Amino acid sequence: MNKIKFYNVARFYKNYKNEILELTNQVFSTGQVLNGEPIIEAEKKIACLTNRKYAVTVGSCTDALFFSLIASGIKKGDEVLVPAFSFIASASAISRAGATPVFVDVNNDGSINFELAEKKITKKTKAIMLVQLYGKMIKPQNITNFTNKYNLIVIEDAAQALGSSNSNIPAGKIGLASCFSFDPSKIINAFGTGGVVVTDNEKIAKSIQILRVQGKLANSEPTKLVSCNSRISSQQAAIVYFQLNKIDEIISKRNLIANYYNTQLTKIESIRILKTSDNETWNYHKYPIFTNFRDELKNYLTENNIETNIHFKKILPEYSVFNKSESNFPISKQLTETELSLPIYPELTDNEISFICDKIINFFKSKKLC
Ligand SMILES: Cc1ncc(COP(=O)(O)O)c(C=O)c1O
Repeated sequence: MNKIKFYNVARFYKNYKNEILELTNQVFSTGQVLNGEPIIEAEKKIACLTNRKYAVTVGSCTDALFFSLIASGIKKGDEVLVPAFSFIASASAISRAGATPVFVDVNNDGSINFELAEKKITKKTKAIMLVQLYGKMIKPQNITNFTNKYNLIVIEDAAQALGSSNSNIPAGKIGLASCFSFDPSKIINAFGTGGVVVTDNEKIAKSIQILRVQGKLANSEPTKLVSCNSRISSQQAAIVYFQLNKIDEIISKRNLIANYYNTQLTKIESIRILKTSDNETWNYHKYPIFTNFRDELKNYLTENNIETNIHFKKILPEYSVFNKSESNFPISKQLTETELSLPIYPELTDNEISFICDKIINFFKSKKLC
């Protein structure tokens, strides 16, 4: 078996080479490589998918989070609640906005624990960074119960969750502003980096349009002093738009693979998997499993040419850049020691998927754990 990659942009390209080259040709022929029509088309489509009034594309989700925070008025002296277990950008965007990330332990599916969050609220708490980890959405009712009680601004880090929904509410519809990523590992990728903010608030949308390029709208004087140039190109937007039109197909293929993994891996007691609840659609951006044999299993799969990934090896408060001394995040810590993400993307072949499952089963059989 050839190496099974963790994600595989080259295979997507191979499948749609003619279409992608034609899109690229169209953009390059107009010469409008920035601010072109495909950007407007992609933004409209994303706003529609997320049931939002506005979508503003930017250079990355990291920038999208930062812009959303400052456009919402978050500043020095403010505290923002954020899960201790996430990608670094969920918290570093808060520091970059001048505010203080206040870390909260998570539940065993990686979602922020609202009971613990409650205990961390002070007079300075202004917002919560809500991360839809692995693309799996937190129940919207749980979010509003918490945020309405404390009147907090919600910024949704939905980097991983495009196309997911819970209780008929799409990812990206929660709170004042929501952010998605189009990096190459995401279900829709910009063949490079890219991100977008969606919101129903006109002021926030306008503010982000200004923040993304030198504090000004096209052909006007700067109104904000920022040094940012954060855009996706017209060509990237055309490729994003192309994929957005296939999002249902992409998610249903990911769900088919996840269902296969579920049926095979539930046989193994030493593996915990995450299930979807009623009323929930999971885009399966990631397929995480949790096992005390994580490192050994990862090595075994690597030896068998199967690439996997760990999300995440460290809890955020452990990064020295955040300058934190608190270390009591037991569930987050446990997830860093047990989580392993398996390859999941529409271009995986049936042979590859069953090979991955067979190898995992073999591994646990050799330990007499299956
Ligand atoms: C939860 C989360 N937030 C933010 C980001 C940052 O996204 P980007 O790479 O587009 O800046 C990522 C990227 O993987 C992520 O997973």
